[in-house]
Amino acid sequence: MTAMSSKLPRDPVQLCWFRQSRTEYMAASLTSELCHWLIQLGVRPDLLVRGTKVVADEVRHSAMCHELYLHAGGQPRQVPLDRRSLRHADDPDADIADRAITAAGELAVEESIALPVFKTRLRNATDPLAREVVEIILKDEATHRGFAWDLLEELVRVRGVDHVREWCRPRLAFWLRIYLRARLEDEPVQYSDAQLGMGLIQRGEHWRLMLACVSEVVIPRFQKLGVLEADCDLNRLRDELEAVVG
Ligand SMILES: [Fe+2]
Ligand SMILES: [Fe+2]
Repeated sequence: MTAMSSKLPRDPVQLCWFRQSRTEYMAASLTSELCHWLIQLGVRPDLLVRGTKVVADEVRHSAMCHELYLHAGGQPRQVPLDRRSLRHADDPDADIADRAITAAGELAVEESIALPVFKTRLRNATDPLAREVVEIILKDEATHRGFAWDLLEELVRVRGVDHVREWCRPRLAFWLRIYLRARLEDEPVQYSDAQLGMGLIQRGEHWRLMLACVSEVVIPRFQKLGVLEADCDLNRLRDELEAVVG
């Protein structure tokens, strides 16, 4: 990994796993920063241990995805990384107790969405190495999802639900921005069976999966935690996002 820039591959399979390698590396970095805050805040040791396991898993995922990129015929090349993407950038002047709530909330969103996506990658994958990599990541992401929601629950217990709701509520639509802006119109089939066999997902299905997860898993979990009102839905959050970012 390097902060140097280099061109992205054009082949869709190579591009998918090259980008995923970068995403996993960024996840390792962001979770590592969160863990440092959690250590400073003195959260329960079992959560610290689980958090550091997430960091180690994400580093391993990054390496495995890069191996899959090479297996797909990719040339050895440096993975371009923007150093800004390796640190939490939101509310940089806020107290780390609050920044940890944001980081946990965003992690809960991302890890929840990773699950149906990787389940579908596994359904599609026929290549043995692709199946092996996707299966390992899928299994790990399930534990990461559990960690993120357990951590958020603990932060609600420690800081109080009123405080956490006050902090999260105005930020929630922004945390979900990628998914709230998903375009669901039918897209032409893009990938061949061979490409799907390497763990790819048709773009339309990919977006539908992610949006369904937001609606059926993420929003209800925030509601259950008491940080989102019971009658809030995707449309209201979409309106809020548009009002903020236009
Ligand atoms: Fe991962
Ligand atoms: Fe993860």
